[in-house]
Amino acid sequence: MKDIHPGLTSTNKFENQEHTELFNQVIEKGYAFLETIIDSDFCKQLVDDLEILRGKFPYNIEKNNLFKGVFRSPFIFFNSYRDLALIEELKKYLNEFFPNNYQLHLNRCVESRPSQNASTNELHRDIPYLHTPSKYPISLSVLTFLDDYSDRQISIYEGSHNQYFYNLEGAKEIKLNPKAGQSLIFDSNLIHNTHPTNKAIKYNLFMFTSPIIKPIVEYSSPNIFLKISENKHRYDEILEIIGYRFAVPKDDFEYLNPKLNDL
Ligand SMILES: [Fe+2]
Repeated sequence: MKDIHPGLTSTNKFENQEHTELFNQVIEKGYAFLETIIDSDFCKQLVDDLEILRGKFPYNIEKNNLFKGVFRSPFIFFNSYRDLALIEELKKYLNEFFPNNYQLHLNRCVESRPSQNASTNELHRDIPYLHTPSKYPISLSVLTFLDDYSDRQISIYEGSHNQYFYNLEGAKEIKLNPKAGQSLIFDSNLIHNTHPTNKAIKYNLFMFTSPIIKPIVEYSSPNIFLKISENKHRYDEILEIIGYRFAVPKDDFEYLNPKLNDL
């Protein structure tokens, strides 16, 4: 074979390598379960930690119906959420889906309550853009269920990430009731919705994307950088997944200077 650019080597390898069963299931059906990667004590810690954020603007707003029940970016503050984002088994799969790196797109914890309709009750995609279906996901959602519940918690629409992307009626509804500690990993283009519950239950969402998609929050303001660095727990690993290295240089000087310094 002729000399090829190094970037093409990983592309070539990706298509030809043997993939895990979970990978193949996500490609085919749009979703798969990561079985109990955390135990009940870990779930309890994740649930308890959120109480510290309750009512703290902008991480949790109880007074506004639009935002009620959502906890933003708990990984900034809590070791538990950092550990969850960095769990080895999850990283193994993320590296399989994104061999040329990925970044954290969003971290939210949602609390479903009997008195409240969560915005996630509507059918939706986690990346609501047109023309983004791809043979391999460009964004993965990882939903970790933190409480057991007696009824279905979420519906997904099989195949809506690819063959039924533009033809929603063709996708079959699958109702799921995951156990506490289970994680649902799915192509963010898969249509889904959560169901109203008659008791308060929580689940955590991490989205990880190919860096061709802009994250919901960049975490790049001096203020937030300071906050993140106040907690040293797995600090370097967290900076790595936030994806600062994918920030776009502001001009050609900024682009070129680090490269020249490396010479
Ligand atoms: Fe969602």
